[in-house]
Amino acid sequence: MKTLVILFMAAVMLVPALATASGGAHLYKAPIDINDKESLRRGAQAFGDYCYSCHAASFMRFNRIAKDLEIPEEDVRAMLIHTRNKKGTPAKIGDLMIVSMTDDYAENAFGTAVPDLSLAARARGADWIYTYLRSFYVDEDRPTGFNNVVFPDVGMPHVLWSLQGLQEPVYEAVVHGEVEYDELVELKSIQAGKLSRVEYDMFLGDLTNFMVYMAEPVQVERRSMGWKVLLFLIVFFGFAYALKKEYWKDVH
Ligand code: HEC
Repeated sequence: MKTLVILFMAAVMLVPALATASGGAHLYKAPIDINDKESLRRGAQAFGDYCYSCHAASFMRFNRIAKDLEIPEEDVRAMLIHTRNKKGTPAKIGDLMIVSMTDDYAENAFGTAVPDLSLAARARGADWIYTYLRSFYVDEDRPTGFNNVVFPDVGMPHVLWSLQGLQEPVYEAVVHGEVEYDELVELKSIQAGKLSRVEYDMFLGDLTNFMVYMAEPVQVERRSMGWKVLLFLIVFFGFAYALKKEYWKDVH
């Protein structure tokens, strides 16, 4: 019986490990620090410059970013507001971050609709997003000229190629039982971009950090609130204990 229980518990603990392992490709660890407002501000700028033209983030409002990341509203306007709102008039600071591109247009251009990125970091995980943006490689057979290691046959063009440069896949023959196949072992740089490798990773770190913030904006506040609550409980425990001693001193 005891062994059965242990086996059952081991199986239950394995489930999350298997779920994360099932993605296959190796994921790089994203340097996330939700309290680093400088990084989040750089990430917001990058999102506005390179992503927001195609992707909406329609659960987010411009002025929420201004407030949470402490960016003056005029700067948020310059960084992000180059779109129109639902009424077709230029977007205002209190509007949701929608885009003008329709699904029909996107299907024509990319073969698929462009997903909303509000919750992408929660759906895919920060490490996946970070790895995805590092892992575009040249593939002449694809309509965009690019493919991706963690998202095979992706419809998105490599919009950051001028920053990262171009990469080519390196394959190695592997034999697995009877089957022999080519396995992608690394991506080799074939043309440098405007940023060095380290600079590009930092750029992606900021962008991923911003997407993690966007997927749950309240977490910045929630964490600092958590510490305050813990501190309160510790102090309160001191008072409660002193009071208990006072009440019981005649009984003991
Ligand atoms: C030219 C338009 C375009 C731009 C600009 C663009 N994307 Fe995309 N992106 C797409 C399309 C189209 C897809 C859907 C790909 C598919 O399903 O094959 C996509 C998919 C994605 C996905 C996968 C979402 C999912 O969970 O399936 C992520 C993450 C993403 N993009 C992030 C970004 C980021 C970050 C930027 C800015 C650096 C960006 N994209 C810029 C068109 C674009």
